[in-house]
Amino acid sequence: MTDSTAPAAAAAAPKPYSPGLEGVVAAETALGYVDGEAGQLLYRGYRIGDLVEHGTYPSVANLLWTGDWDPRHHLPTSAVPESVLVALRALPRTAKPMDALRTAVSVWGATQELAWPPTPEQARALTAFSPSALAAFARLRVGREPVAPDPELDLVPGFLYQLNGERADDATARALDAYFIVGAEHGLNASTFAARVITSTRSDIASAVTGAIGALKGPLHGGAPSEVVEQIHEVTSPADAERWVRETLARGDRLMGFGHRVYRAYDPRAKALRKVAESMAHKPEWLELAIAVEDVALRVLAEKHPDRPLKTNVEFYAAPVLMGVGLTPDLFPATFALARHAGWTAHVIEQASANRIIRPDAIYTGPAERDLPA
Ligand code: ACO
Repeated sequence: MTDSTAPAAAAAAPKPYSPGLEGVVAAETALGYVDGEAGQLLYRGYRIGDLVEHGTYPSVANLLWTGDWDPRHHLPTSAVPESVLVALRALPRTAKPMDALRTAVSVWGATQELAWPPTPEQARALTAFSPSALAAFARLRVGREPVAPDPELDLVPGFLYQLNGERADDATARALDAYFIVGAEHGLNASTFAARVITSTRSDIASAVTGAIGALKGPLHGGAPSEVVEQIHEVTSPADAERWVRETLARGDRLMGFGHRVYRAYDPRAKALRKVAESMAHKPEWLELAIAVEDVALRVLAEKHPDRPLKTNVEFYAAPVLMGVGLTPDLFPATFALARHAGWTAHVIEQASANRIIRPDAIYTGPAERDLPA
């Protein structure tokens, strides 16, 4: 520091501190728009419900990357490089799928020429790779060999094929595709912000997504659909829902799948996924139970918190969709990470297009200048 008056000047005009950066505007984005009061989610202006109805995950990802809407955009999964397979084989079979996916993306990055600035082609390549890597690990950990991609299949049916070794029926693939669409993007959440921070140093897209997966792994961010599954299993019948909801709240526990930091209205993603869950070929048996629990929960939460709207969030109906397509709950967080690849990589491209290194200030709270002990 060359100006010895600078600390005094800073102390005279302290900058506001917002823990968790709440309320701080840290980026401009043309990608996702969330209106929590109205219960609205738009990707580049298009309503999430319309995108689920008329789009596929590759078409939505392409929209986020390029701004172009092409409902026929095709993106198959891609082959897993040998060095990634070596790394996945070396992991303990008990490793968490999120750890395996984070490792795979990091190793993949080391196999690629990822020039600056990041491009839609890089985003496409990474988004096509990750489902194959997660499917490979899911098989390796139970002693089965990975399945090569089928280039005819789009990304989501391709992922299910590589996971199960056989093609999923259309309704099942469509249900998971809807989940991928609603999970693709959600503004400046913690993992997306992490990806933008890493990109702002001119690091590469694989490093940004590796960091984003690390951020998403935390239980405060990674979502609660597996906990929804556990809770619904505690309800014995639709008639038992009222007892269960009241006892759970009386214990001071939270109802998983309700409430949201941003949404005060019914989460539009939950609305889209409820439609999908109800039309699925293989509905989990407890979908009827879940609907009964939702009815009671909304009524009782409104009674208990008349001033604080607590509505259904995306996780509540993500649970039956993910169960219905045959995923085990321990794969739910990593599957969410696959879906969020489109948003992360779109933000990486957007950050790079008007880049400034992200470097906020901190208020120093340590000791004043002093001498080392003699
Ligand atoms: N069940 C029961 N009570 C709830 C719930 C819930 N699901 N959510 C909030 N409340 C109550 C709180 O106990 C609190 O009551 P109090 O004022 O009497 O103490 C009040 O509502 C406000 O709660 P906050 O924690 O301040 O709300 P916040 O906006 O910070 O929390 C959160 C949002 C974390 C999602 C919360 O609603 C929750 O824990 N929900 C359950 C877990 C869940 O579904 N997570 C997935 C969220 S969606 C996503 O991450 C993609």
